Amino acid sequence: MTSIIDAPRTEAQPATPGEPSTRRYLMCPPTYFTVEYSINPWMNPDQPVDVELAMAQWQRLRDTYQQLGHTVDEIEPQRGLPDMVFAANSGTVIDGRVLGARFRADERAPEAEYYRRWFVEQGYREVVMPEAVNEAEGDFVWTGGLLLAGYGFRTDKAAHDEAQEVLGVPVVSLRLTDPRYYHLDTALFVLNDDPVRPRIAYFPDAFSAGSRRVLRRLFPDAVLASAADAACLGLNGVSDGEHVVLPVEATELAEQLRARGYQVLPVDISELRKAGGGPKCCTLELRAARTSDNHV
Ligand code: ARG
Repeated sequence: MTSIIDAPRTEAQPATPGEPSTRRYLMCPPTYFTVEYSINPWMNPDQPVDVELAMAQWQRLRDTYQQLGHTVDEIEPQRGLPDMVFAANSGTVIDGRVLGARFRADERAPEAEYYRRWFVEQGYREVVMPEAVNEAEGDFVWTGGLLLAGYGFRTDKAAHDEAQEVLGVPVVSLRLTDPRYYHLDTALFVLNDDPVRPRIAYFPDAFSAGSRRVLRRLFPDAVLASAADAACLGLNGVSDGEHVVLPVEATELAEQLRARGYQVLPVDISELRKAGGGPKCCTLELRAARTSDNHV
């Protein structure tokens, strides 16, 4: 019998990328999508939005996930909540525990309750609504072992403490400094959420100097994206460990990822980008409780 110590290291530590794993996502169709207010620098209410095109692009994104074998749940969109399509902002779900959202902008505030109800109806037993402003997976990025947490524009730093208490995971705060990258998920995403050796990609210029040093220390082999890749919301990607869904314009990033063995699936999200959102913003990951977990 081969002990773990005797096992060849090459087998114990697979090369990048990691194993793809099947995911469960929550999405909201952009039925009532418009840009009628401006709460980030991407949003210009004078610029027309083609809702049919937005819907077609969104469906394509959903179909892409399904073709990869992932499960997509859908929440019913609500009239008058044009940003509800950005599901990632409404919950952080780790090991079946849900921390809901509290939006900074009044225009988005009612979304939080629709999502809270969805989680309760789906049978999630631990659904906690935050006290502090908390835009969920917009600013919380789970690496498999750490919860990276953005602040500076939307989510309050106090929400980071709340997330650590409610979700029971270690939180690392990162300060965002460029208003175009107002949520952490517009500047950083996880390629592989292996708890031991996670891999991420990010745009360094979106962070304060200290936070850049933290990222370098934690992720010395991260993929660093260019300003051009960031400017098309290329860091708003979604990966299952092998397949990476990226905005089609993020060509340099796609090349870097292919060179590391990832399979890149480009999607066109031009209409949703008019509201400052990309693939990840439309995608809330539902991370189930591990069977070994005893919830206490
Ligand atoms: N218009 C939305 C807002 O400003 C876009 C949200 C994008 N979502 C995200 N996860 N980054 O709040």
